[in-house]
Amino acid sequence: MAKVLIATEKPFSKVAVDGIRAVTDAAGYELSLLEKYTDKQQLLDAVADVDALIVRSDKVDAEVLAAAANLKIVVRAGAGYDNIDLAAATSRGVVAMNTPGQNANSVAELVFGLLVFGVRNFYNGTSGTELMGKKLGILAFGNVGRNVARIAKGFGMQVKAYDAFCPAEAIEAAGVEAARSQEELFETCDIVSLHIPATPETKHSIGYDLVGKMGKGGILVNTARKEVIDEAGLARLMEERTDIKYLTDIKPDADAEYAEKFAGRYFATPKKMGAQTAEANVNAGIAAARQIVSYIEDGVTKFQVNK
Ligand code: 3PG
Repeated sequence: MAKVLIATEKPFSKVAVDGIRAVTDAAGYELSLLEKYTDKQQLLDAVADVDALIVRSDKVDAEVLAAAANLKIVVRAGAGYDNIDLAAATSRGVVAMNTPGQNANSVAELVFGLLVFGVRNFYNGTSGTELMGKKLGILAFGNVGRNVARIAKGFGMQVKAYDAFCPAEAIEAAGVEAARSQEELFETCDIVSLHIPATPETKHSIGYDLVGKMGKGGILVNTARKEVIDEAGLARLMEERTDIKYLTDIKPDADAEYAEKFAGRYFATPKKMGAQTAEANVNAGIAAARQIVSYIEDGVTKFQVNK
């Protein structure tokens, strides 16, 4: 009987866990849970005898993989898999997957939660601005970026996007204006929303120069990854440009400094909330469970990310 572990420092909703259990029960698998763990050792102990692992942003590094001697598959229930050491997984013969698109709407909706809060001056009672008519720049036109574009149109915003890996024609085909470069996106948009993954190329790529290209009152929204921001560079810019706002779902390392220096134009959620909806948990969690069953039973490797 295959053993499946859900290891989530930030737990799924109960309905999602029930849905995952329905899938693993139907396959005759044993499901165990490690939630809200505070110590890596708890994870190392819990993975010792499992065949399959479902995680969120939980770090699955070489040490965790080494501790999981029976592990055959790890599924990141979500989009970004920068938390998994893919090379270590490959060298141990462990298949790593994500569940692309399953939590995309949830993250996209939060972009607008942050934006309305931001343009209404954090609900401090003063007159803010509206989103209608503003130009929104979407950096990376993947599943989240496309959902952001769809919702932005409902707000009556102008929408522009840039994606280094998605041709301009595909962006235009989705009814969105394509920028020729990320520089152009920052130069021409009132608001830029980040949807790039954390990769060696994107890490610390958003900072003084790029954000500094934005016009007066520019707003940067980050529901992607902390690592894509050059925190020192952005802080330097925000010191010089007191009109720039930064709204993020991933607290910077320099959160205390940002909160102190940029009060009223910096906001970070206390905990990453983009994918924290019952719907996203259900979609991503059940997809992860199904992908595990398909892999173990039939060798299906769709969504494998460490090929
Ligand atoms: C993702 O990459 O899927 C999102 O950033 C959500 O991450 P989370 O599952 O840790 O909330």
